[in-house]
Amino acid sequence: MIKVVLLGFGNLGYHLAKAFQRSKNVNLIQIYCRSSVSNRSFNFIHDLSKITSADVYIIAISDDEIATFSKQLNFNNKLVVHTSGSVNIDELSSANFRGVFYPLQTFSKDKDVDFKKIPICIEAERSKDLDVLNKLASSIADNVYHLNSEQRKQLHLAAVFINNFVNHLYFIGEEICKQHEIPFEILYPLITETSQKGISLSPFLAQTGPAKRNDLTTIKKQLEMLPLPYQKIYEILTSSLTNTYNNN
Ligand SMILES: NC(=O)c1ccc[n+]([C@@H]2O[C@H](COP(=O)([O-])OP(=O)(O)OC[C@H]3O[C@@H](n4cnc5c(N)ncnc54)[C@H](OP(=O)(O)O)[C@@H]3O)[C@@H](O)[C@H]2O)c1
Repeated sequence: MIKVVLLGFGNLGYHLAKAFQRSKNVNLIQIYCRSSVSNRSFNFIHDLSKITSADVYIIAISDDEIATFSKQLNFNNKLVVHTSGSVNIDELSSANFRGVFYPLQTFSKDKDVDFKKIPICIEAERSKDLDVLNKLASSIADNVYHLNSEQRKQLHLAAVFINNFVNHLYFIGEEICKQHEIPFEILYPLITETSQKGISLSPFLAQTGPAKRNDLTTIKKQLEMLPLPYQKIYEILTSSLTNTYNNN
């Protein structure tokens, strides 16, 4: 059994706790969080001095707080990891052995996830710690990747385009629908087909639309239909598409 202490109970902490609780190979002995919680399924502590001995300490708090928080831990020479896509491993305090345990998915407390299908990216300074993280990740997920901090940062950047920006474009589409009393659900099959086609064909081959076809009249008409902030987004994306497909 791998003994784990989870530090942070936000969106990711909540889902990690549930996944560890389901695993026969993990003993989630404590969860530290600042604020009080009504959840009675776990052993919560609110005082850092009450942390007990474990094999792995997982810091799942806001990126900007990780470095300072790791220095507040009052123990040494233990394996301490963070869960961020964009924070370097060496931002963790050197008082402990450092590592990363980054699940590549979007987590919200009110949306269930199947952890088995989530890729987990691990990194550690020592090979024996990498083995522990590999065992821990494999006990909750099917796909574990060993990436260094630079690769993880680049992966997180790719994920910002693929998830955050694409989702914002869904939001703009939803706004346009609302303004014109069109039910957003009419676009659900298109959302599903777009993501599935991007996987089966590759995003480059899956592309369609006025910018790919260089339909300049349609592009001009659509630009005129949009309010200013959305016009700018349309222009930037159209220009990127034109550069990709109509370069010659
Ligand atoms: N959510 C995702 O989709 C996702 C995916 C992969 C990786 N991650 C990574 O997971 C980490 C946590 O993200 P999240 O989405 O779970 O964040 P979140 O939902 O915003 O929760 C952040 C948690 O950090 C706690 N916290 C913040 N500063 C703290 C401090 N100084 N001391 C103690 N606790 C502190 C907050 O406590 P309070 O409630 O008391 O403020 C809260 O419980 C981040 O590094 C993020 O990059 C997140």
